[in-house]
Amino acid sequence: MVDKEFLIVANWKAYDKVARQEQTSAWLERFLVQFSQSPKVGVVICPPYHLLLFLRWLLEKNSASAISLGVQDLSQFSAGAHTGEVSAEMVQGLAEFAILGHSERRREAGETDERVTAKVKNALGAGIIPIVCLDEAYISSQIEDLKKAGLSLAEMVFAYEPVAAIGTGKPETVESAQKVAGEVKRQSGSRRILYGGSVAAQNAHHYLAQEAISGLLVGGASTDPAEFARIVASANL
Ligand code: PGA
Repeated sequence: MVDKEFLIVANWKAYDKVARQEQTSAWLERFLVQFSQSPKVGVVICPPYHLLLFLRWLLEKNSASAISLGVQDLSQFSAGAHTGEVSAEMVQGLAEFAILGHSERRREAGETDERVTAKVKNALGAGIIPIVCLDEAYISSQIEDLKKAGLSLAEMVFAYEPVAAIGTGKPETVESAQKVAGEVKRQSGSRRILYGGSVAAQNAHHYLAQEAISGLLVGGASTDPAEFARIVASANL
C-alpha cells in the first residue's frame, strides 16, 4: 500500500456523521458507487477505534480490501496496565496505518515531540506505518527527536498540516504547501509527504500536482462519501 504513487487518507476524527455502525455502512455503500480502484492510488480510512473491527468486516464483505484502515492515535505505552489506552499491539493486523501527533492531540491532549516519538516507535514495532503530522512550528524539533531515537524516517509517512488550515475552510496556498512539504522531505528523507488542511474536491488536484506532495490527509470533507470519492478520483487525473 505504501508503494502507491498517491495516498489519500480519511481522518474521521470524532465527527458525529460517521460515528455509528449504520452511518459507516451507508458511507461505504455510497463511496463504493463512485470509487474505482487504481494501481497508483492508495486509500486509507481512519475511523474512531470502536468502528475499526466493524469497518474491516464491512470491507471484506464488500470485497473492498483495496481500501486500508488506520487509527487516529496510538498509546505511548506497550500492552499492560494502562487504563483507557489502545496500544499498537492491540490493533496489529486491523490497522495498517496510524495518524500520530495530530495538532488537535497536541492542543487537547498535551502531546509532545517526545510522546509522539514513543508512539511512532510502538507503531513501527507492531508493523504499523506511522503518519506523523507536522506543523511548521515543530517540523525540525519533531524530526530531530525521531532521529535521536534511532528510528528509520524513510519508513514513515509525514503529513504537513498547517494548524491555521485545519477545519477552517482556508487551505494553505499550493505554493507554500509545496515549499514546506519539500522541506519536510529534505529533513526526513521520506518520499511520502502528505498535505492536510481544508482539502476539498475542488482543490485536491492542485496539491497532488506538486512534486513534493504525494498524498492528502482529509478531515471534514472525508465524512461526505461522494466528496471523498471525488478527492480520491482527482489523484487519477
Ligand atoms: P480538515 O482536517 O480537512 O477538516 O481541515 C484535516 C486534518 O485535521 O487532518
